[in-house]
Amino acid sequence: MSANETEKALAQALWRLYHRPERPLLWQGGGNLPWNNPDFSQRMLREHLDESHGAASRVVAEREQQVAWLWSQLGLQPGQHVLDMTCGPGLYAVELAQRGCQVLGIDFSPAAVAYAVALAESGGVSERCRFVEQDVTAWQNDGTLYDAALFLYGQLAVFPREQAQRLLQTVAQALRPGGRLCVELLNQDKVDKQGSAWWFTDDQGLWGNAPFLHLGERFWDEASRASLERFQILHLETGELDEIILCDQTYAAAEMEQMMRQAGFASVQVYPAWDGLPLYDADEWHVYIAQK
Ligand SMILES: C[S@@+](CC[C@H](N)C(=O)[O-])C[C@H]1O[C@@H](n2cnc3c(N)ncnc32)[C@H](O)[C@@H]1O
Repeated sequence: MSANETEKALAQALWRLYHRPERPLLWQGGGNLPWNNPDFSQRMLREHLDESHGAASRVVAEREQQVAWLWSQLGLQPGQHVLDMTCGPGLYAVELAQRGCQVLGIDFSPAAVAYAVALAESGGVSERCRFVEQDVTAWQNDGTLYDAALFLYGQLAVFPREQAQRLLQTVAQALRPGGRLCVELLNQDKVDKQGSAWWFTDDQGLWGNAPFLHLGERFWDEASRASLERFQILHLETGELDEIILCDQTYAAAEMEQMMRQAGFASVQVYPAWDGLPLYDADEWHVYIAQK
């Protein structure tokens, strides 16, 4: 690309930015990060494994606390079957397999799933772990009855309400009577409901490995109680402009409890702030344990 062509592309991108709609639409373009894009998934994997922050997966010391809590709250025993929806790089799945469980992890990030498979192998538990690279909304159980299921780190919230309801139903049907599901969702009261905007530049990170300008905006949709983020990434060497709309459906605890009962769960316990576990962001979360 010549300098002239780059300048022209950059100028066009700036005008596109200038003319952007004032607010993005809810669930526009799917409303999720491009987790399943191979390049993005490689860059995201770096973030999952980066022990300097817990933004993509929590750091080791926090996961250890969570796994101990989950083991007890889900009533897990060696030999039991666990389903990990949106398992990412398998950091929880492999740990549970090392405690003796048979785990199925589902995730549509190619780099995360490849890492999970390798982690299970190097941890000596590949015969107790299976990872499937698939969109969880398309997953169909093969008839296995699971003792427990996980839906961690807010991922149920990246789906519109009706789809979240269907996913809860799918998981409930995959559990044996008495089986338990753990869902971690943002505490609606703690979600930032103020609009805001921010920017930064970098030449290495989630959005690319060459200089880029990141422009972020945050919106709150009061009618549907959902938050939206619009990220515009301007790649400075090419003038390419990526737009990503990320939506997070929030739930009042009573609403989620009702959705879980409607999906087939007989009882639901809500634990604010991860039941007091010392996680850096514990206060922002509600953890639900639903029993069939
Ligand atoms: C924040 S990460 C959490 C991963 C893992 N639960 C953990 O805490 O380490 C979210 C994960 O959800 C996955 N994900 C998001 N939407 C998905 C979908 N529709 N189907 C399958 N996986 C999805 C992403 O690929 C990503 O690995």
